[in-house]
Amino acid sequence: MGKIIAGKISDISSGTMKKISVDGREIVVTNIDGDFFAVDDSCTHSGASLSEGTLEGCTITCGWHKAEFDCKTGKLVKFPAKINNLGSYPVTIESDNVFVEM
Ligand code: FES
Repeated sequence: MGKIIAGKISDISSGTMKKISVDGREIVVTNIDGDFFAVDDSCTHSGASLSEGTLEGCTITCGWHKAEFDCKTGKLVKFPAKINNLGSYPVTIESDNVFVEM
């Protein structure tokens, strides 16, 4: 698919998340102290939008049943049941634009 623009650096403040849609697929881009990361937006438990959850440090907590994922790797951090990790994608910065590579 290639590089998809997620927005300007200034669109995603440190400590925040932004959801982008790419060909019907939703990705959440996070800014952790100036470093950007991208993982699938859809929770692997029941499909909630993770960008509507919360971000603390590098942990995204799902707003529905509180599954926790590492925003850098997409790996499940905490949940009572075994659920899949999220897909994660490389992020690059060019000028002041944030790109997700898919
Ligand atoms: S949908 Fe995310 S924890 Fe249930």
